[in-house]
Amino acid sequence: EEATAKRKDAHLDLCATGDVEPAENTTLLECVRLVHCAMPEMAVEEVDLSTEFLGKKLRYPLLITGMTGGTERAGVVNRDMATLAERHGLAFGVGSQRAMAENPQAADSYVVRQVAPTVPLLGNIGLYQAVELGVDGVQRLAEAINADGMALHLNAGQELTQPEGDRDFRGGYKVVEGLVRVFGSRLLVKETGCGIGPEVARRLVDLGVRNLDVSGLGGTSWVRVEQLRATGVQAQVGAEFSSWGIPTAAAIASVRRAVGPEPRLVASGGLRTGLDAAKVLALGADVAGMALPLFRAQQTGGLEGAEQALAIILSGLRQALVLTGSKSCEELRRKPRVIMGQLKDWLEAL
Ligand code: FNR
Repeated sequence: EEATAKRKDAHLDLCATGDVEPAENTTLLECVRLVHCAMPEMAVEEVDLSTEFLGKKLRYPLLITGMTGGTERAGVVNRDMATLAERHGLAFGVGSQRAMAENPQAADSYVVRQVAPTVPLLGNIGLYQAVELGVDGVQRLAEAINADGMALHLNAGQELTQPEGDRDFRGGYKVVEGLVRVFGSRLLVKETGCGIGPEVARRLVDLGVRNLDVSGLGGTSWVRVEQLRATGVQAQVGAEFSSWGIPTAAAIASVRRAVGPEPRLVASGGLRTGLDAAKVLALGADVAGMALPLFRAQQTGGLEGAEQALAIILSGLRQALVLTGSKSCEELRRKPRVIMGQLKDWLEAL
């Protein structure tokens, strides 16, 4: 448990100031252009981005995705992010609850209901920790923080770069099946920056998963984070695989095509602006997710720093809706958009 807490703080330090977004990686959102409408015939205040997520209402289709927990510092991050989500009507997820499964005293750092009573809140656990905990154990984690749903994270790329990481990935779908039985439509399956592709998505949806976060390539790279902590073989191979993954734009567009309109899709991984969020919503996401930009703003400027960063994102998102002449996400989705270059190649192959 000591080791888990230490590793988590090392991860936070690296994410706060380290080179965890390799410059050569891309979401491929630069290959998407929304089309300008010179006569929007609407007011900014008419933009209505409200939607439903985990049975609750969101004012904006945004999720602050799971990052942390288990230490005092992590507790501050969780409460600040949850406070932001409550103020603006967003969804929020805590980070991996492994630390609290190992040490119940760490639970406080995940408890955010007092500051976020109305927020759709996600718990979080890794696929292979879920095997160890069993379905009941995972359910207890969700109940302990009064969560509305549970995020199950997939991170094979990270594990293989981590000296102490998992090396056997068999039996994953079976675990998902068990969790679907207990959580039903309150289960969300997410990647952590390498992307979920259409084949895996279809299989998960066939098993009854109703919420997916494709979390694609182009933002925080957990392979890179582990590479920065590793030595020897792992450091070398980590460097080699720092650009491994399905770019976020390719993941969301191909997964939406594969699973049809019903499943709730979150797109995250490298979204940094409101315009990025608008693009993934246009490509088929119901909700746009962000981690690193809000985390970094919080680390340097506290809650008010994160508030300022979020204000810029929300303003950009509203502006993208107005300048495409869209009052809602449904309208945005029906507008033309241009798909260029490499993204076209990806979408042909997937
Ligand atoms: C993460 N991420 C993450 N995901 C998860 O499911 N459980 C976790 O515990 C964590 N921990 C974590 C810590 C920090 C500091 C960051 C920045 C990220 C992954 C996160 O939810 C997201 O999928 C990726 O980071 C991609 O989004 P961004 O960061 O590029 O916006």
